[in-house]
Amino acid sequence: MSADAERPLKILIVGGGGREHALAWRCVVEGHDVEVAPGSDGIAEDAACVAIAADDHAGLIAHARANAVDLVIVGPEQPLVDGLADRLREAGIAVLGPSAAAARLEGSKAEAKAFMARHGIPTAAYHTVASLDEGRAALQRFARPPVVKASGLAAGKGVTVAATFAEAEEALRACLEGQAFGDAGATVVLEERLEGEEASFFVLSDGARARTFVAAQDHKRLGDGDQGPNTGGMGAYCPAPVCTPAVHERVMATIVEPTLAGLRAEGTPFVGVLFVGLMIDADGIPRVIEYNVRFGDPEAQPLLFGADEPVVPHLHAAARGELTPGVIRGRAAASVVFASAGYPAGSTRGSRIRGLEALQGAPDLKVFHAGTRRGAGGWETNGGRVLGVCARGDDLRQAIARAYEGCAALSFDGMQLRHDIGARALRRR
Ligand code: AMP
Ligand code: GLY
Repeated sequence: MSADAERPLKILIVGGGGREHALAWRCVVEGHDVEVAPGSDGIAEDAACVAIAADDHAGLIAHARANAVDLVIVGPEQPLVDGLADRLREAGIAVLGPSAAAARLEGSKAEAKAFMARHGIPTAAYHTVASLDEGRAALQRFARPPVVKASGLAAGKGVTVAATFAEAEEALRACLEGQAFGDAGATVVLEERLEGEEASFFVLSDGARARTFVAAQDHKRLGDGDQGPNTGGMGAYCPAPVCTPAVHERVMATIVEPTLAGLRAEGTPFVGVLFVGLMIDADGIPRVIEYNVRFGDPEAQPLLFGADEPVVPHLHAAARGELTPGVIRGRAAASVVFASAGYPAGSTRGSRIRGLEALQGAPDLKVFHAGTRRGAGGWETNGGRVLGVCARGDDLRQAIARAYEGCAALSFDGMQLRHDIGARALRRR
């Protein structure tokens, strides 16, 4: 690590959810000077917030310039797909986040599948269709009901894991004729349903080299036992024991290295955080479920809260093309998400949140705010996913127990949370 990386940096984080709160907290804890645009009332407890929206690219660039920002970290995918990182780089500002061209890996599932096919990267067999007739014909080619995915960005809601062919056809119709996801659903990927256990694998890259985090695991379904609708993620923990050292090595050799090399060879090198959603089968063979081009939420919470070595120098090195390969390790950590009534179909705002004050200063515990606001009477809900109670420990059992102790102190009307975050990992042991 160069001596330069040790000096406090001026960091601008773009976004305002739980992921950005975790990023801001981490950067502040490591001694850096942090601003978040637009941030939130919850994030403002830890870092300065500036009222610039994530889609106001000109405003963000002007602010970064005027304040001699050393590093911009872009939290969400939309500004990356829209080219914010390209514009920052053109302005000479170091940014952790891929170009719009590299962000197509998340922006278009159809293009991501074609990319994997070109580079021999293991993933589910698939067909891309753009009309209901094509879709019906493609359905015939699957032995079992396929997974139906709107190709474009759909905030995690564009995927149907169909139990029957009729359900698959209904999902196809919703995308292609019902306009359920607007333009994002005008192209649909049908793919073979994979079996196994999922893991979230995060890779920092400077375009050439890779430094990874330990694997995390998200909980996508709303209810305990993986029941109920898909959500943006109801809780996460790390490290995920499904990703053994042998699996980790295989992910690097068969997925991460060919992905980064493929992007480089195609003239769109990846600078930023590549998030590979994996399905790991019973033989320990990993396949790509999807690529994202940013940190996961809530996965970023346990990864950044648990890390026991500085992370920011690596983020900065990736943005500057100076990354050293390796793995960022840390303590075991878990985050339990509280969602508001009606989530994921909708959300409820303005419910009073009780108990946050009691958790302030609790050791090895941190509440990351995702959708909260300060009302006249105190903290209130302000979105679907409201907050994450994150804890770390000497092992997962301790981290999870601490997180749930924290959860017991909190309440609001209509709150929804899972009671089995990390349970699968504990059963393995
Ligand atoms: P995605 O938005 O592509 O990550 O999909 C959302 C969720 O749907 C994933 O986290 C999986 O639980 C499930 N899923 C997506 N694709 C597949 C697949 N090919 N096989 C099995 N499950 C899948
Ligand atoms: N937790 C999954 C995601 O951030 O997409």
